[in-house]
Amino acid sequence: MVSAMDPGYFETMYADSADPWGFDERWYERRKYALTLAALPRPHYRRAFEPGCSIGVLTAHLARRCDRVVATDVVPRALESARDRLRREGVADRVELGLASLLDPWPPGAFDLVVLSEVLYYLTPADLATTLGRAVDALEVGGTLVAVHWQHPVPEYPQTGRAVHETVAATDGLHRAGAYQDADFHLDVYTRGPVPSVAAAEGLS
Ligand SMILES: C[S@@+](CC[C@H](N)C(=O)[O-])C[C@H]1O[C@@H](n2cnc3c(N)ncnc32)[C@H](O)[C@@H]1O
Repeated sequence: MVSAMDPGYFETMYADSADPWGFDERWYERRKYALTLAALPRPHYRRAFEPGCSIGVLTAHLARRCDRVVATDVVPRALESARDRLRREGVADRVELGLASLLDPWPPGAFDLVVLSEVLYYLTPADLATTLGRAVDALEVGGTLVAVHWQHPVPEYPQTGRAVHETVAATDGLHRAGAYQDADFHLDVYTRGPVPSVAAAEGLS
């Protein structure tokens, strides 16, 4: 079995449509992004990593909450769209875009936010475990990791979103800080090690 889905699968999708998942148009996506951003425990982050950034819709939102965002994808065309969007939205100077796979070594340096949104089910279980180990290593102590995935099975994908979130939950070093679930997607927020709750951080509890 290949160890991750062939980038050609995604290249074909972007050749057929500039926005294959309807990130720009669908209320489903807008709502999911709003929930993802609202679930982040800190108002602001120093340096985020978003692998599988696609056309940069979530990336632009993250750039408004972060000093720096490193965002990667396996499809050059998606990255070109992301670059245009980030420029249009006036946040390009905060984002470093790169052509890379989650199977590649992670960008050097530490992150205080790792966003794994709709990308982990493209990996086999063995590669997912390796990737999550790298995520924990790259995350600063107290930093945030968010995982968001469609829960309905997709026959072409090596694993389901449900299996992905079970594996993330079992990863050493991650402490669950919050979750949202509905019939379509799961959103899980972790920190590297326990941190005070949002209310405790502001002296409310
Ligand atoms: C469903 S989109 C998710 C976009 C974005 N993270 C979001 O939630 O809006 C998945 C993206 O992951 C990219 N991708 C697929 N396999 C990948 C891999 N092994 N490493 C990095 N990106 C990958 C695809 O090209 C596609 O743009």
